[in-house]
Amino acid sequence: MATRVEAQTSMSVSDYDYSSFFYSSSDDPFAILEPYNEWYTRAVQQGYYLFAQAMSTPPQGWVHLTEGLHHRHVKLLNLSSYNYLGLSYRPEVIAAAKAALDQYGLGAAGSPILSGTMDVHVQLEEAIARFKRKEAAMVFPTGYSTNVGMISGLMRPGDWVIADQNAHASIVDGAILSKANVQFFRHNSPAHLEKKLRSTTGKKLVAIEGVYSMDGDVCPLPELVEVAKKYGARIMLDEAHSAFLYGEHGRGVAEKFGLEDEVDIHIGTFSKALGGQGGYVAGSKNLYNYLKGFARSRVFSCALSPVVTAGVLRSLEIAQAEPELRTKLWENVQHIRKALEDEGVDVGDSTSQIIPIMVRNDRRIFELCHQLFRAGLYLQPVIYPAVAKHRSRFRVSISASHTFDQLDEGVSILVRVLREEGILV
Ligand SMILES: Cc1ncc(COP(=O)(O)O)c(C=O)c1O
Repeated sequence: MATRVEAQTSMSVSDYDYSSFFYSSSDDPFAILEPYNEWYTRAVQQGYYLFAQAMSTPPQGWVHLTEGLHHRHVKLLNLSSYNYLGLSYRPEVIAAAKAALDQYGLGAAGSPILSGTMDVHVQLEEAIARFKRKEAAMVFPTGYSTNVGMISGLMRPGDWVIADQNAHASIVDGAILSKANVQFFRHNSPAHLEKKLRSTTGKKLVAIEGVYSMDGDVCPLPELVEVAKKYGARIMLDEAHSAFLYGEHGRGVAEKFGLEDEVDIHIGTFSKALGGQGGYVAGSKNLYNYLKGFARSRVFSCALSPVVTAGVLRSLEIAQAEPELRTKLWENVQHIRKALEDEGVDVGDSTSQIIPIMVRNDRRIFELCHQLFRAGLYLQPVIYPAVAKHRSRFRVSISASHTFDQLDEGVSILVRVLREEGILV
């Protein structure tokens, strides 16, 4: 059965996306729910909506999923998880989390500023500060709440947050919440950042990322730092996808470029390379003390579970003690990049463990995703609003725990499907 909108306009389910359902003309906030639900239901029925399919195994090379359309259990080769060092299911990490469960119970049962701080939280904050060679580090419940809390905790109406145009939603949302003026500069363009900085006065925060999560490209940190310093701006660097991976000691892109002291605020997450959950801000003790009072996403939220905190602490120790994990990751990245490039696959500007497989066809990407599923490969479609319209892609995430055989099999499935569907010639 076609939706009302489709019946009236002869448009199909793939002509719509989230932006079609953002506003409605009614005075009732619920008026948008029914048309959205009509579209959503058909999108699921037609296999167009392929998000949030439940996994019943750890995020490893092979995973079991419950496929959303027919509720079938399927085993798929996984090139979708952020578990970059394979730490989420390491036996030592699981053991540390189990021990914490026995010692502390499940949750922290309080905000970190009230009764929710346990000694394992203090240990993790101190360990991150030592690792990042900063005076202090603050742990947040998620990477998302880290950016939201840090930016809105520090910046005020009348100030300026100047962010890369590809900045993660958590940076954008933190800036909006702060009520500072927000400007975006062209992706990775120091010249455009300079233009923005030149035309603003007052307090300025430049918000950039080490590795961008949708394109997998690295920021030109030296040039961006030079421009920001010239105009007296503070710099926050979100290393969600680069901390524990880049630099000789894994301290991130700031270490890779030798600019750790030039970056004022170091952000990272525990949900990717460390295979856990949570985020951190590392910087000066003054910044720590201020955010302790003003980062509302932390003040007014329960502390990270002590179980996860203890697991992350153990992951951090392993990441530091086993640099060979990073070596293996980069070998894997080189291996799959070469295989993809040899086949002529368009991987955009990526140089990292995140490799976009550019499809650039928003209507067909779900159909392709379905084909990949059927062929045994788990890849996530990425469409608007996560990326600009007509920039849809699959995003391959490589882990140190992948074997070359798994990567070769993934490339072979991908190339076969892209060829059959005429995306790759
Ligand atoms: C750059 C960046 N910052 C922050 C986050 C949020 O991190 P988390 O998923 O740990 O909340 C992400 C998540 O993908 C990210 O890519």
